[in-house]
Amino acid sequence: DKGTYPHYMLKEMDEQPAVVRRITQKYENEAGQLTIDPAIQQAIQEADRLYIIAAGTSYHAGLIGKQYFEKLAKIPVEVHIASEFGYNMPLLSKKPLFIFISQSGETADSRQVLVKVKELGYQALTMTNAPGSTLSREADYTLLLHAGPEIAVASTKAYVAQVAVLAITAYVVADQPEIELKKELGIAANAIQSIIDRKEEFAKLAESFLATTRNAFFIGRGMDYYVSMEGALKLKEISYIQAEGFAGGELKHGTIALIEDGTPVIALATQKEVALNLRGNVKEVVARGANPCIISMEGMEEANDAITIPHVHPLLSPLAAVVPVQLISYYAALQRGCDVDKPRNLAKSVTVE
Ligand code: F6R
Repeated sequence: DKGTYPHYMLKEMDEQPAVVRRITQKYENEAGQLTIDPAIQQAIQEADRLYIIAAGTSYHAGLIGKQYFEKLAKIPVEVHIASEFGYNMPLLSKKPLFIFISQSGETADSRQVLVKVKELGYQALTMTNAPGSTLSREADYTLLLHAGPEIAVASTKAYVAQVAVLAITAYVVADQPEIELKKELGIAANAIQSIIDRKEEFAKLAESFLATTRNAFFIGRGMDYYVSMEGALKLKEISYIQAEGFAGGELKHGTIALIEDGTPVIALATQKEVALNLRGNVKEVVARGANPCIISMEGMEEANDAITIPHVHPLLSPLAAVVPVQLISYYAALQRGCDVDKPRNLAKSVTVE
């Protein structure tokens, strides 16, 4: 039930702070420490490499998960698009563990990989929002996303839940994680709330940047690159604006040819060590006529930034940085008269390969 909300997507974006808090509670032991099922912890720790398999938005969450496992827990990770993995299988390590990330737990592309890796005798863990789903039943282990039902076709709160559960999992399996994760997740939840409370700003931004454009670019470096890919997917699937998410440094290697007078470029600048380079990339596109919209983070903002989000831990910045791009996409779709919750040609769970 969407209650008083005009769209499920808006309701589900609004639920995101509560989702992060709920996950923190669900993954807490009596002593208040973050924890996961010890059998899963052991399976991950015994693996010499993790293979994350997912599609769409869940794949974008997986790219962030790789950073968590590698940076916090020092476990090497490969992230693969489910539909490609079956016939482009990489050489596997000696003791792989497969992690399937799937909101619905029913995505056929992911399931065919799961069937294959089970045939090969490997262990699999499913991260899903749907207990009892096919991917959950057929894997050895399940970690739940606790996002609550997601009805809008465009995934929002499930993505935030995936990123949060990936962070918790990597943190728990890490030897000496260099982050106070529980505290930082609380800060991130508050940051999401304060962004959501500024909805009108995003409605106005969408109106001034995206009302009539045919295309748009999202750029970022590091963690922001992955959020750029997610921002582009969100925008195209519900507003039908052709959008691409790019690594800030990569645009000039070809794609910058597409920048014309007024082309919207949404630039995410939440990562301190690359902020200068990213701002350099913004100058490059502005010099070719682009209409920039910089989303920065408190502590590194500059005068003309369109949006500054509250400070969160750099590893958790995707949790906060994704929210402005979700909201901008939502309002762009709305203003362009699109069916936000049920975009054309799409189904909530994709059960064909
Ligand atoms: C985009 C979106 C899709 C799904 C993808 C995987 O907003 O919802 O890209 O993320 O179809 O679905 P799940 O996570 O259910 O496997």
